[in-house]
Amino acid sequence: MQQRRLGVLTSGGDCPGLNAVIRAVTKSAAIDGWEILGFHDGYEGLLHPVSYRVLDDRSTAGIAHLGGTILGTTNKGRFVAKVKHGEVMTLGDEIITEVKQTMAALNIEGLICVGGDGSLTTANQLFEAGIPTIGVPKTIDNDIEATAMTFGFDSAVVCVVDALDRLHTTARSHKRVMVVEVMGRYAGWIALHGGMAGGADIILIPEIPFEWDKVFGAIRQREAIGTTNTMIVVAEGALEKDGTYTTKKDTGMTGEHKLGGIAARVAAEVEKHTGKETRSVVLGHLQRGGAPTSLDRILGTRFGVGAIELARQGKWGHMVAYQNYLIDSVPMSEAVKRIKTVTPSSQMVIACREMGISFGD
Ligand code: F6P
Repeated sequence: MQQRRLGVLTSGGDCPGLNAVIRAVTKSAAIDGWEILGFHDGYEGLLHPVSYRVLDDRSTAGIAHLGGTILGTTNKGRFVAKVKHGEVMTLGDEIITEVKQTMAALNIEGLICVGGDGSLTTANQLFEAGIPTIGVPKTIDNDIEATAMTFGFDSAVVCVVDALDRLHTTARSHKRVMVVEVMGRYAGWIALHGGMAGGADIILIPEIPFEWDKVFGAIRQREAIGTTNTMIVVAEGALEKDGTYTTKKDTGMTGEHKLGGIAARVAAEVEKHTGKETRSVVLGHLQRGGAPTSLDRILGTRFGVGAIELARQGKWGHMVAYQNYLIDSVPMSEAVKRIKTVTPSSQMVIACREMGISFGD
């Protein structure tokens, strides 16, 4: 009898917890006698020259605590489904044919696709083209609709909080304003949670456009009551009231505008308008690297087990989701319709405001 097989791949920007998913998928699938082929570098491994490795208990042992992905990943290449916010590109017929050929040649019944919004859009397009896929949501940005949380987010927040803890002491000693830039292209979840846990005084996010005068005013107000240092956390995609957001000039190899530079801009404006000495720090990919927190290892493991359960039930075209402390599933077509952003009137934002945090609005 032919060996039954499933494929697994990790696609898009890496994030802590991916290896926990790969390990759980492999172990859980083995119970039903499925062998797992791990495709390299996201969907690219499915195209010629096909690149994969057989995963088993031994090759996935001791990887849950490792950051990154043992399979490799990419957020560029031939499968990019979303180039700009909301702009969807359709996969070409020749790519779909090639994927089908690979799956037939290797006797693969279905693919477990671990990725963010763009990669899940690809998984859904493959499903709609007749290829059985199951989605597993990942991103440090926590911006995927239909799941209360994605793995990687907690690890990123812990990284931000650690940085803020360190920066507070130096800011206080020098009576400075510190501006910390964190990831979050369209969604301010990392800034919001990291800022609240790390004791930020001002949080600037894409969902709550800010005004410069309000930011300067918040700093002056603190000075007026004798507080000589201020901590500002700014999401890379923070929006000004007039619709401006700060990008680097080039779009890079992914076709998306590269964000970055907002912290330096805020620092320069603050220094100019308040006369306060100001420094800026960009946390960048430190937030994506390193070991996953226990919460992300657990969520990644539960998602991996959940994905195989969906395969058992034949629920192709679905994505595992975390809702009310339970692993559930939703059609991928629903999950990729829009991204999940911070609601400005949410409890979390209100709680921040009650703690005296300004959003510069
Ligand atoms: O999607 C996660 C994310 O961390 C975004 O917040 C950020 O803009 C992007 O990845 C950067 O990715 P890369 O440097 O890999 O292109």
